[in-house]
Amino acid sequence: MLEIRHLSKTFFKGTPNENPALQDIDLTLQKGDFVTVIGSNGAGKSTLFNAIAGSFLCESGTILLDGEDITYQKEHKRARNISRIFQNPMVGTAPDLTIEENLALSFNGANKHAFARAVTKKDIAYFRSLLSTLDMGLEDRLKTKIGLLSGGQRQAVSLLMCTMTVPKLLLLDEHTAALDPVTAEKVLSLTSQIVKEKQITTMMITHNIQSALALGNRTIMLEHGKIVLDLKEEQRRNLDVAGLLKLYRELCGKELDNDRMLLTNE
Ligand SMILES: Nc1ncnc2c1ncn2[C@@H]1O[C@H](COP(=O)(O)OP(=O)(O)O)[C@@H](O)[C@H]1O
Ligand SMILES: [Mg+2]
Repeated sequence: MLEIRHLSKTFFKGTPNENPALQDIDLTLQKGDFVTVIGSNGAGKSTLFNAIAGSFLCESGTILLDGEDITYQKEHKRARNISRIFQNPMVGTAPDLTIEENLALSFNGANKHAFARAVTKKDIAYFRSLLSTLDMGLEDRLKTKIGLLSGGQRQAVSLLMCTMTVPKLLLLDEHTAALDPVTAEKVLSLTSQIVKEKQITTMMITHNIQSALALGNRTIMLEHGKIVLDLKEEQRRNLDVAGLLKLYRELCGKELDNDRMLLTNE
């Protein structure tokens, strides 16, 4: 479903600051795969997502999504099929619009002919039912401006907006990292529930090794712009946090050095 071949991206090419952020990446995802992505700071995780989403073009390699070559497709066009959530809860939603208006934008945006369509009673009933699945009481706050919600509530609404129309690919870049631990756990379990229910092909960057191993069906680790580990099935099932850190040490000759890395089950 996602096929990445020989993808390379070098920042500041040909200068003393040349930085090979992605080096000959090969990655194939099957439909419905939920891949967690880990690696130290600066390993190239966000750059990989940016490359897939089209934030910039890469100097070499190809990206196929559902058989379509999107290597040179513009970011806004890719966004029809690729949804993203970022670490900052302020990014995914429009703060001055109400919950209802935000949801309506995503809902109608999926159907370009209905862009300026008024929100109907039926839509509102649907939004309410969607919001009630979050179990945050937001179904009774449809007229509340998104800017008044907590970070966790905003990320939860972003999650609904990104998945209301099932994207071909969902990219989550540390989307719970700015939340307090209890809220982060809640948004993670919502993520897991929605992804499973709608069978969305998903990649999720996380600094929490425990949830990287617990969620999804596959874990990849990046280091210096390369995929150094690709764990599936029994190999992944049989690995705990200590085992993974040991593997990293053996492969990379150093400790995993993400300063925000949560190494325990906190
Ligand atoms: N837009 C950019 N311009 C220049 N350098 C960048 C850009 N984005 C990322 N980098 C560099 O590429 C490397 C990988 O960064 P990034 O993908 O953000 O790492 P992380 O794995 O922490 O998400 C880092 O050295 C970073 O400084
Ligand atoms: Mg990053």
